[in-house]
Amino acid sequence: MTQEFLGNSQFNISNQTVSARCPSNIALIKYWGKYENQIPANPSISYTLTHCKTNTTVHFLADEAFSVQTFLSGNEEKKFANKIEKYFQNIAPYLPWILKGRYVIETENTFPHSSGIASSASGFGALAKCLMSLDQIFSVENPPASIITQKASFLARLGSGSACRSLYEGLVVWGKTEEVEGSSNLFAVPYNNDAVHPIFRNFNDWVLLIHEGAKSVSSTVGHGLMNNNPYAKRRFREAHENFATLKTILSTGDMEGFIKLVEHEALTLHALMMMSEPPFILMQTATLQVINKIWEFRRIKGLALFFTLDAGANVHVLFPNDIDNKKITDFIQTELLPLTQNGAVVKDVIRF
Ligand code: DP6
Repeated sequence: MTQEFLGNSQFNISNQTVSARCPSNIALIKYWGKYENQIPANPSISYTLTHCKTNTTVHFLADEAFSVQTFLSGNEEKKFANKIEKYFQNIAPYLPWILKGRYVIETENTFPHSSGIASSASGFGALAKCLMSLDQIFSVENPPASIITQKASFLARLGSGSACRSLYEGLVVWGKTEEVEGSSNLFAVPYNNDAVHPIFRNFNDWVLLIHEGAKSVSSTVGHGLMNNNPYAKRRFREAHENFATLKTILSTGDMEGFIKLVEHEALTLHALMMMSEPPFILMQTATLQVINKIWEFRRIKGLALFFTLDAGANVHVLFPNDIDNKKITDFIQTELLPLTQNGAVVKDVIRF
């Protein structure tokens, strides 16, 4: 139990409807491997996206028997409701009123459901924000404003690890690292964005949708397989080392170093999957074709176009937004989009 976020046992509940929206995020240094209670095995850092968001409305019906009903884009999702019920039971020590009512939760994503873009980060981010809004209404003693977002991040983490980073804009760190003051395994903190070179503060992330539908192995199972991965220890150490390297890169504006590190992290994530027991592969043929084309383009044109990957087949294509990038966008259009499913791409941007 984390003492600092325990809830006050005095509260006044009433029927309420609250809404929140929360963006998704894309990790540059990846979280892959965790311990009990969603404690990450290594620190991670991500960009919070702008357009890929979840909008959630929670209707709380006070003093009715505890139950959860969820609707995704108007369609009832029973499996999701079971997951949320367990989640609410799990976080009850931190929100003591939470099991004292019935919930109807309506949620929708701004990106296509079948896109394979992770909705758990934005989903749990938005839900945690809604819960903190209810907590502020019900609590007799209001928590100081400074800890409300931190507690939302803490609660989001208990739903899905990477979700805790979506509560802040710009670059966001989760996991204890001596490179970032105030960093914690329990919640995310904003990176000191003033220490980030302008070149990294206006970036495109175009998500090329390679494969629709469910993944063969969920992130949660993938994290679990790190427990017996013989390379895990070295990986966790390397993530710490990469933080130190990235800090210098971010302050000096070293684009070449940034590209090298971000692509290395993405490939390491997938290499770890291949080295798990049992092994698994989430990349598809087109994922590798896109990567090779990006490398060839960079070799010939020398322009800053690179990629990162999530735990899936889609490719996040990254390039700065503050330069004339017509050559890059033309290349994506003509060479990369034909490799996606029906030219499907979600164009997002990071600006802070
Ligand atoms: C590959 O946060 O989805 O996207 O904590 O089990 O919900 P759970 O896992 P999740 O893992 C995401 C891992 C990743 C890398 C990252 O976002 O850091």
